[in-house]
Amino acid sequence: MTDRYASFVQSGAGRALVKRLGLPDPPRLRRHTPGDPLLPGPVLLGAATGSRLAEPVGKILAAAGVELPDPSAGTDATARYAALVYDATGITDSTELRQLYDFFHPQARSLLPSGRVIVLGTPPAECGSPRAATAQRACEGLTRSIGKEFGRGITAQLVYVTKAADPGTLTSLESTLRFLLSGRSAYVSGQVIRVGAGTAQPPADWDRPLDGQVVLVTGAARGIGAALARVLARDGAQVVALDVPAAGDALAAVANEIGGTAVQLDLTTPDAPTRLAEHLASRHGRVDVVVHNAGITRDKTLGRMDADRWDSVIDVNLSSQERINDVLLERALIPTGGRIVSVSSIAGIAGNRGQTNYATSKAGVIGLVDSLAPALNERGISVNAVAPGFIETRLTARIPLMLREAGRRMNSMSQGGLPVDVAETIGWLAWPATGAVTGNVVRVCGQSLLGA
Ligand SMILES: NC(=O)c1ccc[n+]([C@@H]2O[C@H](COP(=O)([O-])OP(=O)(O)OC[C@H]3O[C@@H](n4cnc5c(N)ncnc54)[C@H](O)[C@@H]3O)[C@@H](O)[C@H]2O)c1
Repeated sequence: MTDRYASFVQSGAGRALVKRLGLPDPPRLRRHTPGDPLLPGPVLLGAATGSRLAEPVGKILAAAGVELPDPSAGTDATARYAALVYDATGITDSTELRQLYDFFHPQARSLLPSGRVIVLGTPPAECGSPRAATAQRACEGLTRSIGKEFGRGITAQLVYVTKAADPGTLTSLESTLRFLLSGRSAYVSGQVIRVGAGTAQPPADWDRPLDGQVVLVTGAARGIGAALARVLARDGAQVVALDVPAAGDALAAVANEIGGTAVQLDLTTPDAPTRLAEHLASRHGRVDVVVHNAGITRDKTLGRMDADRWDSVIDVNLSSQERINDVLLERALIPTGGRIVSVSSIAGIAGNRGQTNYATSKAGVIGLVDSLAPALNERGISVNAVAPGFIETRLTARIPLMLREAGRRMNSMSQGGLPVDVAETIGWLAWPATGAVTGNVVRVCGQSLLGA
């Protein structure tokens, strides 16, 4: 689906009109292309006094080929940066938050379009005192506001890094830093991401972070699922693409295009989990990554909703995920280092008129992540969810025009996301290098105002 308004705004005549009338001004977002440098310019890296992460982060960035100006050379008022990265772990009292202002205030206009702001902190629950926990929690207000204020496709995130992370090399943080700095995270902003102490396996080639991984994608015939299959295959995965038999032709086309295999299966049939498990066991002997993407909507206000609409949405969007997880885990088909990534929705966070069934199912997906992640942590399997906002697909094309325009514009990017934006985010959570991220729900919503 095309966003005609965004195309118009990016034309010469459109630009002039938008400026004159003060209309929303959707920027062209920087998206990832294999072979791209991580960033199109230098990174200004700063740290609060007594911080613990800036040094290893500097080494990671330098090894990734990022240009890091020497901070001791003083700040150049004319310099332009692709990212501002600030280590706030040393802040242990609200009076020390002033260091955030001192770093960011002079740089408020120094970022290039689609620039990145990343603040690194310590999880408040791990802080030694209420004051330190309070100060670390306060950082969230800064990043969320910068995301809304800076515009021009600039994103801002807070990353809480556990004190138990490997202090010397910080390999547990590297994949998250790379994702957030790159064009892969074009439509992710205002998020709080928690990096724990799990093991992370850096890839031989960061352009192929899923090399050799067997990945199942449900709902792969079209929309977000088809984009997912393409992105994961591009990143080196062997993709098993699943969809209903009625979507067989489209599914076969996607599987052929990416050199993957197609499984025609309705996830709601009683024998679907065992048939799927048998297929994966006989063809691959395992499945490293399970992406639960298949989903449906059957909208009606609650008073007008028949039981069938309720049942089908809960079954496809939530219960089928549970049944499949149970069988794949029982049969030990998801090995140590495996990944489960589920697709939720901001409707599951904010609720939505006419979507009690859908929002219940998608909030349930968040519950699944919350409950399963700790249970699977000791098996080295991570469980995370993404919560897309307004993504340009057939699903959102069906929304009435006025509501659709509101959904598209009510976010920090003034535009809808693309299926590839959700796919890139799921890809990052699926990488062997992202083993230290579990139990997270990451919104891919351009910092939508809904449920924020
Ligand atoms: N598009 C958005 O803006 C948006 C926003 C938030 C969340 N989501 C979620 O993202 C996911 C993908 O959405 P989309 O927009 O690509 O939708 P879509 O309707 O284009 O694709 C969904 C796919 O799931 C498949 N599917 C449905 N029921 C199935 C079943 N019983 N067994 C196997 N496959 C089945 C469909 O055949 C279809 O190919 C869904 O979970 C959706 O709820 C989408």
